[in-house]
Order: sequence, then structure tokens, then C-alpha cells
Amino acid sequence: MRVAVIGIGHVGLVTAACMAEWGHDVVGFDNDPAKVESVRGRSVPFHEPGLEELVLRGIDEGRIRVTGDPAEALADVDVVFICVGTPMKADGAPNLTYVQAAAAMVATHATTPTVVAEKSTVPVQTGERIRQALALQAQSAGGSSRHEVVSNPEFLREGSAVQDTLFPDRVVVGADSARGHEVMRRLYEPLLSGHDCPYVATDVKTAELIKHASNAFLATKISFINAVARICEMTGADVHTVADAMGHDVRIGRPFLNAGLGYGGSCFPKDVEAFIHIAAEIGYDFGLLRETERINRDAKQWPVGQLRRLLWNIGDKEVAVLGVAFKPHTDDIREAPALEVVDALVAEGTRVRLHDPVALGHVQGRWGEDQVQLCKSAEDAIRGAHAVVVATEWPEYADIAPAQLVEWLEYPVVVDARNVWDPTALLDAGLQVASVGRRIPAAGV
Ligand SMILES: NC(=O)c1ccc[n+]([C@@H]2O[C@H](COP(=O)([O-])OP(=O)(O)OC[C@H]3O[C@@H](n4cnc5c(N)ncnc54)[C@H](O)[C@@H]3O)[C@@H](O)[C@H]2O)c1
Repeated sequence: MRVAVIGIGHVGLVTAACMAEWGHDVVGFDNDPAKVESVRGRSVPFHEPGLEELVLRGIDEGRIRVTGDPAEALADVDVVFICVGTPMKADGAPNLTYVQAAAAMVATHATTPTVVAEKSTVPVQTGERIRQALALQAQSAGGSSRHEVVSNPEFLREGSAVQDTLFPDRVVVGADSARGHEVMRRLYEPLLSGHDCPYVATDVKTAELIKHASNAFLATKISFINAVARICEMTGADVHTVADAMGHDVRIGRPFLNAGLGYGGSCFPKDVEAFIHIAAEIGYDFGLLRETERINRDAKQWPVGQLRRLLWNIGDKEVAVLGVAFKPHTDDIREAPALEVVDALVAEGTRVRLHDPVALGHVQGRWGEDQVQLCKSAEDAIRGAHAVVVATEWPEYADIAPAQLVEWLEYPVVVDARNVWDPTALLDAGLQVASVGRRIPAAGV
């Protein structure tokens, strides 16, 4: 089938590459010329494992093209994916301007009746708005819209986006017509024939709600375990064992029960906020999600509190912060909890020595050189610092031996906000330790 993808960012480019992998003819369009040029120049403009290889294969085999010309992108296509950003506005509502612009573009440039699939995360009832935008634009040109609107929410995770798309847990398609369902089923047939995954066919509004409900639930799961971690710290219980034991219950499951620095990224914070906002707009107060947000805000303040506890004054100290990406295996720093930690330290006058394996380029110039020093390796960051804070759980940090930390650090102080190290091993090596929700036995016990 012939597929157009509007917005070739984290979701759009992965969608384009995977659709091409399934044999479809794909054209990607973005209004950011740098993104288009980057892909044309055979490089992926962000870090995503396995993506470059897939994109290059698609290009070499003639199944992917990218363009900055909407008319070229939308000529003669069967399905158009809208993958543009839906960032948060100041009042918490999602900014749907880019979605409307994409719809108007389809109405103006598509040469055949298409199925317009929302892949961007949007609030329930956006499908109706897209239909309205298509109709308005068509009317202004003296015609009527012949396009179908469907919802096909995206569940990929940055860092494993390619695997998540090629082998998804489920595909959700919301359509309000037989044609919409038929076209989307055909589009996904190559995936469904080779991979046994549930295909949830429903109406547009239900599909839209599935996405917000899923992200809000996952964020709540993270906040729940972070609240339990606080109680563990106050009582001497161990959150890791609590989470493992809870996770054995198939009704609960172990994923997303890792206590830590809270959720961040381009999705959870804005999607939780958007869900609260749309619920309020239709007359429902989603207080549970407001509490999810409050616990998450607290979680991000935990490391600085622990540094104060262990170091007393921190304004005259130098602290190594390991990790700035919002999670490992990505260079995405949007809403990264680590940024708040560094901001709080800088506000105190603490000098920060920051390391991340792939994301440092995105914080260049964000702070003064006298405030935050960007370090080439974890060792560079830790050597001579008064304490180290782990802010992103990159596997390479877990490999640093406690004895090494003792040797590199000026003061033997570790604040492990992602629980990458075994607190007992750190204590045995003679370090002073704060680990989220972990039972810290007295040294030598
Ligand atoms: N990143 C994720 O992990 C993830 C997962 C699931 C869903 N989503 C949702 O998918 C959507 C896109 O997220 P993303 O992370 O890919 O964002 P992104 O910022 O990486 O990419 C969005 C792209 O859209 C382009 N764009 C904006 N307006 C445009 C227009 N009018 N025409 C053409 N291109 C335009 C931008 O230039 C950018 O390249 C959001 O709604 C997000 O919530 C993201």
C-alpha cells in the first residue's frame, strides 16, 4: 500500500521504517528541513537503536522517500499517518495546532481519498475535530472531504522503538466505518500474519481513550511504587523486595514498579496532564491523576534532599550527576527528571559534573561552564566529586564497582536515585549511601 507519514520524529520515522519493512511504499514528510536533509543524507537525527539500519534498508530498496514538499508526500496515497508533536500548553491542555495543520495539509494536497490515521497522542474526540478540519478545508476549495479518519495510537517506547513496533503487544485501531477498518487491517496484515499479537478493532473515541488511559495508568504505577518507597525509607522496609513480591501476582506484574526519580520524557508528563485536562473539560475531576503528578514532583526532589542529609551544606560542594536522558538507550532529554536535579543543584550554587553516554550534546550551553561541567566519561565526572548521584539507569553505570567509587570520590557519598547499585555492596566498600526505598543496614551488618 502507499503510505504517507506526516512528521518524521521519534514516532514518525519509526513508523515509516517499519511500514517499509512490511513491504509498503512510504513517503515521509516533515516541515523541519533539517530532519528531511538528515534522513536524505542517510542519518537518523536522534539516537534510537536499530533505526538507522532499517531506514537505510528502506531507502536502498526504494521503499522509503522523505520530502519537505507536502504535495509530493500526499500524491496518490492510501493511508496518511499524522505523527506530529502534541506538546503541552501552559494550562496543561495539549497543543493540537500541528495536528490541525497536518489535517489541512491532507485536505489541500491529497490527490485521492485516503484514510487519515491519528498516531500522535490526542485527547478523546480529536478524531471529530480532524474530520471537521478536513471538511472545512475541502469546503473552502468548493468541495467536500472524501477522507476517512481513524485512530491508531502508538505505544512504542523510545530506546526500544523499533522492536516495539515490529513486535508490538497489541495493535489498536479505532474507526467509525467499515472502509476505515478494512484499509487498516490490510495495512497491518504483513505484521499480523507473521506475529501473533492482539488486534483491537474499535471506534475512534475508544481508541483515543485507550492511549491516554494506558499512559496515565503506567505513570500512576510508577508514582504508586515511589510512594511505597517513601514508606519503606521511613520504616526500614525494602521497596525492591516489595516490588518483586507484588510483581509475582499476575494481576499486578513487575514492570513499572521500579522506585526511582519519577517519570519524565515527552509522553507521560504531558499525557497525564492532558488526561486530567480533558476529563475536567467534560466534567470529571480525575483527582487520582493529580496525586500521581504530586508524587512524581516529590520523587524528583528526593536526590537533593539526600545530598543535604549526607553532606550538610551543598552549595560549596561538587557533585557528579550520572545520566541526563529521561531514560537509558535514548538521547531524549524532554522532561528528563535529571534536568530538575541539576537545576536544583545549580540553584544552590553546587558545582555539577555531568555525564551521559549519548545525550550531553542536547544540554550544551544550557548552564554556565562554571556551574555544570560536561564530562566525557563517568570516571571524569566522579573523580574528585564530593558525591555522586545516579539520575538515569544506563547499564554502564551499574558496572562501576563500589571500590572504584571509593577511589574516585572525594567524599564517599552515593545517592542512587535509580537503584542501579546494590546498597549492601556500597556499604561494605565503606560508602555512605542513599538508595530509593532500599533498606540500608548499618555498616558491617
Ligand atoms: N516519543 C514517544 O515515545 C511517543 C510514543 C507514543 C506516542 N507518541 C506521540 O507521538 C507524537 C509525536 O511524538 P514524537 O516523539 O515523534 O515527536 P517529535 O517531536 O520527535 O516529532 C514530531 C515531528 O513532527 C514534525 N511536525 C510538526 N508539525 C508538522 C507539520 N505541520 N507538518 C509536518 N511535520 C510536522 C516536527 O518537525 C517533528 O519532526 C506525540 O503526540 C507523542 O505524544 C510519542
